[in-house]
Amino acid sequence: MKPSIVILTGAGISAESGVKTFRDAGGLWEGHRVEEVATPEAFGRDAETVHRFYNQRRQQLLTVAPNAAHTALAKLERDYQGGVTLVTQNVDDLHERAGSKKILHMHGEILRKKCTWCDAKSDCRQDLDKTDRCDSCAREGGLRPDIVWFGEIPYHLEEIDQVLGDAQIFIGIGTSGHVYPAAGFVERARSNGTWCIEINKDQTALSTRFDDQRLGPASVEVPNLVTELLR
Ligand code: OAD
Repeated sequence: MKPSIVILTGAGISAESGVKTFRDAGGLWEGHRVEEVATPEAFGRDAETVHRFYNQRRQQLLTVAPNAAHTALAKLERDYQGGVTLVTQNVDDLHERAGSKKILHMHGEILRKKCTWCDAKSDCRQDLDKTDRCDSCAREGGLRPDIVWFGEIPYHLEEIDQVLGDAQIFIGIGTSGHVYPAAGFVERARSNGTWCIEINKDQTALSTRFDDQRLGPASVEVPNLVTELLR
């Protein structure tokens, strides 16, 4: 068996598909800091603005397609003779559309909704509105994107910690390293002697913590790395 791999992707892998990253271009949306619309408090205070932000992102997602980086990771999962776990901070479905099967969406998914009253979850391709009713409990006003907001606990943390503990190679792709706990994964991997590779178009806050740094667009660097790993 080949060394087991854990991959962490961030907004940078979807940038060349046309999905906006969070922190490039100042991280502002209609004058709001992203952190201001992505919190339970913001939803409680001004659900309309929060829905507008996510409705725009959901509609835009339906117009874009996976790029060569997503496709290369799907090929890696299919053809690699060892364990591959894909952890993503992205709420888009571009990894799925490229053919990846095992994906841990630690920040949730924009094409899913959940009810704040009864916690029922279901697919969601339509705009959400503060007057919508939940299909399960029929209460109004509680439907929100199934996305982990600032101050909430990310999904799948136990499983991620376990795979990081077993990994021999950790690869961080297109993530700025500003948001924890994901920003701490490289340190967790290093503590086991795991070989850490970073792919990013720029230096990041965490670049010095990686053993191997590949500077360039994900659509080029990810397929190159996958070719090496499949040799
Ligand atoms: P950021 O927007 O913070 O960082 C995107 C990173 O991708 C930056 O380091 C860019 O240099 C890099 N990048 C951009 N284009 C690239 C390309 N074509 N090829 C390679 N790298 C590229 O996004 P994340 O680190 O994913 O959380 O942000 C983490 C979390 O913060 C998000 O999941 C989101 C956000 O608030 C929630 O919504 C909970």
